[in-house]
Amino acid sequence: MKKILKDVNADKVHALYDAAPYPDVLEGKMRRGTPMLAHWINASVAPDGPALHPQANILSAGCGSGAEVFLLARQFPQAKVTGLDFSEASILRARQQAAAEQITNVRFDVADLTSEGWQEKYEAFDFISCHGVADFVSDAAAFMQNLSSCLAPEGVLCMTVNSPDHPGERIRNAFGSLGIDAADFEDTARQRKLLQMMVGLMGSSVGIEGLAEAPKGYLDVDIFPPIAHHNSIETWCKKAEDCGLWFCGSMDAPVGLTEINDKQLPLLYPLDKAELSVWMAKLRRQPGMQLLFSRRQPTGPRFDKPEEILAWRPLLSSSVGQLPEMTVDPQQHRPMTLRFEALPDFIIYSTAYDLEVLRCCDGNLSVQEIREAIPAEGDWESLLACLFRAYHFGVLTGA
Ligand SMILES: C[S@@+](CC[C@H](N)C(=O)[O-])C[C@H]1O[C@@H](n2cnc3c(N)ncnc32)[C@H](O)[C@@H]1O
Repeated sequence: MKKILKDVNADKVHALYDAAPYPDVLEGKMRRGTPMLAHWINASVAPDGPALHPQANILSAGCGSGAEVFLLARQFPQAKVTGLDFSEASILRARQQAAAEQITNVRFDVADLTSEGWQEKYEAFDFISCHGVADFVSDAAAFMQNLSSCLAPEGVLCMTVNSPDHPGERIRNAFGSLGIDAADFEDTARQRKLLQMMVGLMGSSVGIEGLAEAPKGYLDVDIFPPIAHHNSIETWCKKAEDCGLWFCGSMDAPVGLTEINDKQLPLLYPLDKAELSVWMAKLRRQPGMQLLFSRRQPTGPRFDKPEEILAWRPLLSSSVGQLPEMTVDPQQHRPMTLRFEALPDFIIYSTAYDLEVLRCCDGNLSVQEIREAIPAEGDWESLLACLFRAYHFGVLTGA
């Protein structure tokens, strides 16, 4: 009985996306979530062989009408990008756009990603992006297992999911308390006024910009969907573990670090990237989470063990650009703005000495060797804070 109910709901999800392919349904009115940062993804999961390399074989699982596929295809013109979705209408639209814009490094196919067999048609993927899909599939464990099975040994899965703090749950409950079943959301004038009032009451905790005015097609699939898992980060980690994947971190951790000052930072040194991500997710209560999984166990230095940091051979990401050389006073403070177009708020305020250390991070020298090679002496605590941020922002990698 349960299985039949689940399948009926999956059919409803299918029908909703066929009626309103995503993200066209947003009509450009709503801002999409945290952008995907190739440098951060590569730094977090594949320091010695980037997953998102220019010739990568990429899959967008549940691609909708293809916006993400086109984004990736433009960012990596030599890569092969495949988009799969069970909505025929979405795939048709994606194919039409690819033809109209003569984008040749993309391919779109119809596939139900919870079923078996579709993987056989494709070479193992180096990178799988799955944005806003896993919450709406009936069998999330089978879905993840299928994605895991078509990942290359060094491949990476990036999954964006709704968190338990997504406002959908609260809004559906609030509608229910007024006698309106979530399945009956018709967007009548009264229902819209109720929604606006609820969003107003929820204040900033709603976490989704423009929700009260969002188009009905979006509300149908994100706030009132027939299936909505809204699992905790731990639940997704457990599902990943069950299909042989390691959790490597969430984008929310580096975003959260921007709120923490250098005096508070050492309190977090005992946490590795995955632990820091779980900790941040509990406190920051964002509506969505961008989670990274890899087949390989992540490794990284422990910042609460200074001897490990001194032995660490960090590599500075090329995306940072050229760093200035040290000026006369090693303690001179100045802002170092890391040049990540997508996230301009990632700023490390460091001393001139810290910058000089970062500049020397070529992957061959240990932190100790770098410190010995620089004539001036900097403050160790401030350097540690700078290295910690750079590591979590994906600016530094290394073994
Ligand atoms: C919120 S949209 C996200 C689309 C795209 N990833 C993006 O971010 O623009 C969710 C997509 O997942 C697809 N989907 C849901 N369940 C699916 C399944 N079992 N197999 C394949 N696609 C599925 C839907 O058809 C829809 O296009």
